[in-house]
Amino acid sequence: MPTQEQESISTVKSYTREDWQGGYTSLKEEYDYWIDDIEGEIPPELEGTLFRNGPGLFDINGQKIHHPFDGDGMISRITFTHGKAHYSNRFVRTEGYIQEQKAGKILYRGVFGTQKRGGMLANIFDFKIKNIANTNIIYWGGKLLALWEAAEPHILDPNTLETLGKEYFHGALSEGEAFGAHPHFDSNCVRDDGNPCMVNFSIKPGVLTTITIFELDVSGKVIRKHAHKVPGFCFIHDFAITENYCIFFQNPVKFNPIPFALGMRGAGECIKFQTNQPTRIIVIPRQPNSMVDKAEILEIQSGFVFHHANAFEKNGEIIVDSICYENLPEVEPNSDFRQTDFAALKPGQLWRFNLNLTDKIVNRELIESRSCEFPSLHPNKVGREYRYLYMSAAHEETGNAPLQAFVKVDLETGKKILWSAAPKGFTSEPIFVPRANAAGEDDGWVLGLIYNSQHHRSHIIILDAKDLTVVTKLHLQHHVPYGLHGNFVNQVFI
Ligand code: FE2
Repeated sequence: MPTQEQESISTVKSYTREDWQGGYTSLKEEYDYWIDDIEGEIPPELEGTLFRNGPGLFDINGQKIHHPFDGDGMISRITFTHGKAHYSNRFVRTEGYIQEQKAGKILYRGVFGTQKRGGMLANIFDFKIKNIANTNIIYWGGKLLALWEAAEPHILDPNTLETLGKEYFHGALSEGEAFGAHPHFDSNCVRDDGNPCMVNFSIKPGVLTTITIFELDVSGKVIRKHAHKVPGFCFIHDFAITENYCIFFQNPVKFNPIPFALGMRGAGECIKFQTNQPTRIIVIPRQPNSMVDKAEILEIQSGFVFHHANAFEKNGEIIVDSICYENLPEVEPNSDFRQTDFAALKPGQLWRFNLNLTDKIVNRELIESRSCEFPSLHPNKVGREYRYLYMSAAHEETGNAPLQAFVKVDLETGKKILWSAAPKGFTSEPIFVPRANAAGEDDGWVLGLIYNSQHHRSHIIILDAKDLTVVTKLHLQHHVPYGLHGNFVNQVFI
């Protein structure tokens, strides 16, 4: 029988900050075991491997890091096969991870404000970057790659999660060159005879920012690479693709590098949101040397976007669905993210943007006002018109709060379905997995990793994607810190 997650409608708040903080506790151990504490049945057709990445350490030998985005990448792998499930986790053995674990102290400044002990003098003019490999994990071209947007990917063995080295795609990437953490997978590329391809980007910020587009075939070979210069500093984490375009939202920010150079702030703490400046939408054709081989730039009112849900072309327009914030809260050197006052922050909300490239007009419409993040959809619908979107969301309908729920949005009818893990559960990115020979776009499952603050342990939840009812709960022996991104692959790795 399906089990039901405990529902609670709190009259005050659906969470306590202390409960939420538990998910930001370091997980130092590395595990490898078959999961035996299971409620419900694992669907026998669910065969494959869920890889997830995210910060696993929030301190180095007791020295606290300043922001979760500075935490060392830890991979969780959940393998589903023959109605059973296996869990394992490994830290990515980056150079920085190995050195800091050996030294027992922080040796690198983090982009988001982590500093070496010793104050300004210990950090001044130290521009060394620690590639922490903590943002996403993909399996492409027969390689498992841990991604971090400011440097090259790390290669892992999908069977052992051992770190094997760094990936340069046969020389298409140079040492230390950025490679985004948000590739999108075009399941049916019009330029490759309908074969799948992976589309990614990199940013080289400056007065003029260079955006480089990479497209890779199924063997992992870079088949298209083209660079475009756009005016102004860019802080861009994600982008969206359609059949023919890449779309970037250039958030209105300014970067003052001086406090970073002087060792007073992390680079990320030198970014200031500019409320009075518009957000620029940059549209770049995916076909290099096409008739319009230049970036088109449109403007809309200011806002901040980390993640786009999807984009597609329809009736001569480009439609982009994105999670937007009114602004970007600044990270202050003396602040502690563990003390976040959610009520004081604006929620991320789902908006639809209609881009008319001919008239250079953008219209926008609010689709989901509930605080939401981490969109997921059917993999074959990326870059194409689609109907169903799954996101992590707040339990309450209004205001800002930690993510404790999943919401499914029917973009055709506007119907929304919520599944909540409140008050003790906290969610992260949902992953939609289609059933083999699926009968429709939402025929499959939503997989999520839930942190349960009551027991300081995590569990994997399998929801029926049609109505978000619980199919299975798989209890882990420990907690898993809140992660960032991951992917499900049909191959079974164990
Ligand atoms: Fe992201």
